[in-house]
Amino acid sequence: MAVNRYTNRKLSARYPTDLRAWQALKSHYADMRGREITQLFSLDASRAGRFSLTAGNLTLDYSKNHVNSATCKLFTRLAKEAGVPAAIEAMFAGEPINQTEARSVLHTALRSKISDTLALETPGVREVWEVLSKMEEFIDAVHSGAINGSTGRRLTDIVNIGIGGSDLGPVMASKALRPYWKIDMRFHSVSNVDGTQLADLKDELDPERTLFVICSKTFTTLETMSNARMARDWIVERLGHGAVEHHFVAASTNHDAMNAFGIHPDYRFGFWDWVGGRYSLWSAVGLSLALVVGMDTFRRLLAGGRIMDQHFRQAAMDENMPVLLACLGIWYNNFFGSETQAILPYDNRLERFPAYLQQLQMESNGKSVRMDGKAVKCDTGMIIWGEAGNNAQHSFYQLLHQGTRLVPVDFLLPVTSSGAAQSQQDLAIANCLAQSEALMDGFDEKGLEPYRVHRGNNPSNTILFEELTPETLGQLIALYEHKVFVEGVIWGIDSFDQWGVELGKKVAMSLADVVCGDARYKGTNPATKNLLQRVRKLRRI
Ligand code: F6P
Repeated sequence: MAVNRYTNRKLSARYPTDLRAWQALKSHYADMRGREITQLFSLDASRAGRFSLTAGNLTLDYSKNHVNSATCKLFTRLAKEAGVPAAIEAMFAGEPINQTEARSVLHTALRSKISDTLALETPGVREVWEVLSKMEEFIDAVHSGAINGSTGRRLTDIVNIGIGGSDLGPVMASKALRPYWKIDMRFHSVSNVDGTQLADLKDELDPERTLFVICSKTFTTLETMSNARMARDWIVERLGHGAVEHHFVAASTNHDAMNAFGIHPDYRFGFWDWVGGRYSLWSAVGLSLALVVGMDTFRRLLAGGRIMDQHFRQAAMDENMPVLLACLGIWYNNFFGSETQAILPYDNRLERFPAYLQQLQMESNGKSVRMDGKAVKCDTGMIIWGEAGNNAQHSFYQLLHQGTRLVPVDFLLPVTSSGAAQSQQDLAIANCLAQSEALMDGFDEKGLEPYRVHRGNNPSNTILFEELTPETLGQLIALYEHKVFVEGVIWGIDSFDQWGVELGKKVAMSLADVVCGDARYKGTNPATKNLLQRVRKLRRI
């Protein structure tokens, strides 16, 4: 694979470890690592207020971190020396900052207003608003009953068929925005290749009322296409061939493949190669979500993303929330040696948010080669994991409090309940605050048995917001998207490609016929050979 040479001089090509700010952070770390966070609070009465930042509807409290004013100044220096301000401008200008694929990175254009004039000269950008209008017309027609299933019945059950970015975004956001679902509309999803999700759904769904949304940037993805074919067989079997064009819509950049599948021209929604899969919720990939919550709510999500874009573009480096989160990530990853970070939302509607961030962060920044083709000299993307609120507490918080590893945490905390009794959200708030306090303060006293001691000094961010509205969700997603980008710029990697997923896909393709007994294994891996023999024996082939 030819790696495009790093021609864009606006982006830093230097190893971050060679930057003066990095070296200064290294010495500073030697001073900070011995300090307790509680000590930092006792030295500065105004710390809680000073170490917090607001952007849009989000307030980030980062006071419970191993940082002081000097650390934050060094973060700003690091971002500047690494060329973050120029990189931000390069992204918004539509420069091909996804260098290994020679593509612009313009998911921000999907949520911009035409009056923002964001990269309007990039092919496709001017079509953004046409596609949104087409989505709106289609969705309104489904809701009004102007568009129905093949037998004339209302389409009420929307099944998103996709995987990765073509699944996680719609699934996460549909759960998060459950209170916004239109009456009678329901969201379902099918992603995994084994077929069980669709098999279970078929028991539950009425084909006459079901609309499948095939979501795939490439429209070639094995999992999605095999599920889509199974769904089509089901519709044909139950409603006949003519029903296919009434029960399938698609979002893709591959118009020929949508055509070949039998998607009616009016039911095809395009997007562009400058939208990365894991950044695609804002495009027609959001169609299944928008069908369920309505276009008005979907547009509010986009508006939220735009608010964070404006903050990211305009705020100074030292007041820039995504930049700060990125620097904190680098601080724990590259200086404190943390390998993982936990995302802990205290609202069950955000239960898929950690999974969404796993793809966003680990597919984007799980790289060991820089854009200039050279090996990185420091660790890159952290392992992201997490779970919603008290479910997490009763599962893995033991390790956070008393394990041997330092796991920095992001708590996400809405103040108002999204559709349940406020008294219960108040309990969630109490738990969230209690956990971040306990993680920081720890617990010890004279004579206490060692196994009861909580060492404390564990860092956390708290991202507080009033309510989980579409605007707030849009801001949260965009916050992490930009955080990932800033980390990638500092490390000098391409956060927008995903070459590491290709090899496994290729090998799987070569094994498909072998597994079902239609071909012999031609590979050389002795472990695979042995396992295949066992599989075939168990399958009695
Ligand atoms: O395998 C990884 C990946 O390429 C993701 O980046 C992407 O979100 C997913 O597959 C699905 O791809 P597509 O939308 O083309 O089906």
